This record gives sequence, C-alpha cells and structure tokens, in this order.
Amino acid sequence: MNFSNLSEIAQYIVSEGKGILAADESNPTCKKRFDTISVECTEENRRNYRELLFTSEGMKENIGGVILFDETIRQHSESGKSLLELILDKGALPGIKVDKGLQPFNGSDLETLTQGLDDLDGRCSEYSGLGAKFTKWRVVININENLPTQECIDANMESLANYAKIAQKYGMVPIVEPEVLINGDHSIEDCYDATSRSIKSLFNYLSTNNVDISGTILKPNMVTPGTDHTNKATVEEVAQATIKCLKENVPAELPGITFLSGGQTEIESTQHLDMMNKIGGFSWKLSFSYGRALQASALSAWLGKKENISAAQSAFSHRAKMNKLASLGKWSESLEE
Ligand code: 13P
Repeated sequence: MNFSNLSEIAQYIVSEGKGILAADESNPTCKKRFDTISVECTEENRRNYRELLFTSEGMKENIGGVILFDETIRQHSESGKSLLELILDKGALPGIKVDKGLQPFNGSDLETLTQGLDDLDGRCSEYSGLGAKFTKWRVVININENLPTQECIDANMESLANYAKIAQKYGMVPIVEPEVLINGDHSIEDCYDATSRSIKSLFNYLSTNNVDISGTILKPNMVTPGTDHTNKATVEEVAQATIKCLKENVPAELPGITFLSGGQTEIESTQHLDMMNKIGGFSWKLSFSYGRALQASALSAWLGKKENISAAQSAFSHRAKMNKLASLGKWSESLEE
C-alpha cells in the first residue's frame, strides 16, 4: 500500500466502516487480561495470542489498523513471518503505542501526566523504519468533586500536541487519545464537562503546534455516567451527548474519530457507536479503536489452548464485523444471535 501523505493514511484506516484493533497492552496490562483466563503472561503466549487475532478472517474488511506494543512490532510467528506482515496481509496498517505511561501530576496521585517525550524523536525514527504507519499516545483525565483541574488538562493536551508534531515529522499519523476515565460516581453531565474541556484544550494546542489535522485521528471516550453513578443513561442519551460534545470541539477537517471502549461491555460499545451513526449529521468518520470490547469474547474462548484458536478467532471476527456495521449505522441487536 502506497500513500502520498498523512491524510491518505488516516482516511484509509477509517475507510468503509473500518476501525482499529487496539492490541497495544503493555506487558503488565496484558498480564491482567491473561490472569482472568489463568494463562501465564510469557512472551510466547503474548505472541501466540496476538498472532491468533491478526490472522483471523474478520481482520479483512473490518480492521483498518492495529495498534501494537513495542515487543509485538518486533515479533515473528512460528512460520517466520513478522506479525507486522501478518497485519498487512489482511489489508490493515500497523501502528505503535509510543507513550511511556503515567506519572503523578504535581506530586499528587489523583491526577497524572503521560510520559515519553524525552526520547520520542529517536523512537519514532526507528518505528517508522520498522514499518509503522501510525502512532498512539494516551493521556488520562480523572473526575471527582474537584477534578479535573484545568492545569492538568492543559499539561496533558500540550504533551499530546508535542507528540503529534513529532510523529508527523516521521510520516506517521498520530492518534491523540485523551481518555476521561469512566471510574467513579460522576454524572453524565460531569463527564460531558470534563470531555469537552479536554478536547477543546487539545485542539487549541494542536493548532498552536501546527499539527496537520487532516493527518490526525482522535481517540476519545464516549460521554457516559461513571460506573458507580446511580442513574444509567440510555443508549440515545449517550449518543446525543457524545455527538454534541464532539461537534462543539472538533474541527470538520479531522478525518476520523475512533472511540476507546474504556470499560463498556462489548455490546454497549457497539450499541452506542451504532446509535451515533444512525443519528448522523457530522463530517468525520465515527468508528472504533477498541481493546477490551474487541477482545473480551476472544480471550474467554481461547483460554491459552491451541484447540480453541479457531473458536477465539470466530469470536473476534464476529465483534470486528459488528463494530464495522455500527460504524456504518447498520447494526441491530438481532445480528448478535
Ligand atoms: P479499551 O477499548 O479497552 O479502552 O482500550 C483502548 C485503548 O487503546 C486504551 O488506551
């Protein structure tokens, strides 16, 4: 696949309802996922699991990009092919997580600042040489009675803009991910406020840094109540609040918005995305960049056993297809049976 500019790469990733598979769990996060199925988190098991995902039939037509962790971009399958080639074989583009995780912000544990800018130039140069076409940087915003502070929002959004500029310098599309966490008892209005302030600040910094918006992808949370809030929101309420928040803060020239699932179930993530696309009325593609919501069923079907690979691949392929349909506003609950 040949692309003449960043905008073409970004558009390809979200073309025809395709979305992104986030398979960039760091080793400690991967261990957490493997613990739930009692599988040891060895390098070989991580490789086997990811190979299973990348060679699934459902990659084709449904997945436009895969986000990898540093270890995975260097791994090879038993047959000797690199995992990166397996992704390309399915028509998807390989991407790489380049942030180095969270540190306490201003000496407090309540807020964090994402790390990794110091040696980012050198790492981007290497990843681009290895064949990565896009990158991801995640910042995390917490909600409670007094949070988030504007200071923490701005520091993180500035880090995203600095990162995005460097990724673009090396010919890779930056995915900018400001995740407002779903944890807590906050209301949907609180989430709306924190998400809106974050995305507004982000696009201000992207503009000041002269980041090419037409070659950037936004990966936000949906606007939902916190997991411990007393009132659940309806699918329509989440969809309407999320669209409103995005329309107020995201420029029209951005090619794609790919949501994180952030602790929503597989079905909720699909349902909400589908509803937004059924409502419509926006210029960007609205699609997915799910980790857990694309992998949960596949993980439980796999259980680390060779004889379960085909069942795990079917489970993953099904979710990939359902989310593609949701990106086109063509999903319905009856398709889940
Ligand atoms: P989840 O969809 O599981 O939230 O993961 C997406 C991701 O890449 C988080 O950084």
